[in-house]
Amino acid sequence: MDTRVGIIGAGPAGLLLGRILQANGIDTVIIEQRSQAYINARIRAGVLEQGTVDTLREYDVAERLNREGLPHDDMKLFWDGARHSIPMIGDHGRQLTTYGQNKIVEDLVNLREKDGLPLIFEAEVTAIEGLPDNPVIHYTKDGVAHTLRCEFVAGCDGYHGAARKHIPDAARHSFEKEFPFAWFGILAEAESSGETRGFGHTTRGLAVSSSRGPDISRLYLQVDPEFDANSMTDDQIWDELDLRLKNQYGQKVSRGPIIDKAVARLRAFVCEKLHYGRLALAGDACHIVPPSGAKGLNLACGDVRLLSEAIVALLKNNDARLLERYDALALSRIWPTVHWSCLMSEAFHLFPGQSEFDTRRQYQTLNHWAYNETGQRWFRESMLGLPFPRY
Ligand code: FAD
Ligand code: PHB
Repeated sequence: MDTRVGIIGAGPAGLLLGRILQANGIDTVIIEQRSQAYINARIRAGVLEQGTVDTLREYDVAERLNREGLPHDDMKLFWDGARHSIPMIGDHGRQLTTYGQNKIVEDLVNLREKDGLPLIFEAEVTAIEGLPDNPVIHYTKDGVAHTLRCEFVAGCDGYHGAARKHIPDAARHSFEKEFPFAWFGILAEAESSGETRGFGHTTRGLAVSSSRGPDISRLYLQVDPEFDANSMTDDQIWDELDLRLKNQYGQKVSRGPIIDKAVARLRAFVCEKLHYGRLALAGDACHIVPPSGAKGLNLACGDVRLLSEAIVALLKNNDARLLERYDALALSRIWPTVHWSCLMSEAFHLFPGQSEFDTRRQYQTLNHWAYNETGQRWFRESMLGLPFPRY
């Protein structure tokens, strides 16, 4: 054996899995197609559920998170020119925390380097042979072909990765929905405030205001799927955010230099076949949620908790029973979370050809979430996230 567990992908799922397996005395090798600089700079998620924060604390990855993470007490919803505040503290003090995914990735990579554990960057996995029982990963680095023999392979390689296609019938057991819009995300050196943090519904489309620290704002605008990130000046972007997040208090988002711009299309995807023999998928490799629920990273973390336990049982005790239950248990959290993320998308976006009637119906959903006791609880619990399932 070259290693016990070969992990494909150094996103949050692959890196966290490596960390948990290491804590259980299981050697891993992580293979990542991108460079270290690229994954550290990839600006993506930022809203962490309590279960994600607790997991990072449990595995000693929270030193910077504890200092820089921003817990939320409430969430603002903006519609029809008014601002509405929903309390966001759940049972036992559960709450959301803002902390950038790129920092989690950087923290995990730094710890892995400190521990001297193998992480091969700029190496692309091209195939997995020997399944179901004796997997061998084939990858290419610097134009040279390599192999890695493993007792188990974890496909944590995202939606476009190589692992999923090695699961027989994965395509037949996959379900997908494409939304007719995209998110234009910006990161700005601008003061962020809880007063404007939240989701805005307008007849010009959705806007989201979030943060990465007291002086760094993270903001999103609904745009056309073909939108060109360079087609708006910075002033036009700020003006559009003001129009979409305006409220009865006249508050505006603070402006500052924009340091990152990217466009992401919205889609939902679930593959219901999560493992085949000694290959299993976790994270975006087996599901994509539209970002309106802020759930992708949190779902990935829940998968990894389950998968790591199943791998430990298999490799340490030769017990495959947990792995047999992995798909069903992970899916019991994946589908409700995908559903919630789609509901959020449907409530806040402007759809092509949307009528005034459709808009009034969206207002009813938002009213229910903000002011009806049951609706408010449902909104809060859905945003806070389902507890991570356990075997
Ligand atoms: P990824 O992060 O995609 O990592 C997969 C890795 O595998 C990549 O590094 C890739 O380079 C590598 N790889 C792929 N193919 C190969 C190959 N053949 N060989 C080797 N390596 C390979 N989620 C939240 O929870 N909260 C949020 O607030 C939130 N906001 C978001 C905002 C935006 C704009 C976007 C786009 C996403 C957001 N998400 C959010 C989703 C979240 O970013 C993803 O769900 C998360 O990155 C999934 O982690 P992962 O490790 O499964 O996959
Ligand atoms: C973020 O802070 O990046 C963020 C906030 C809310 C979302 C998605 C992402 O729905």
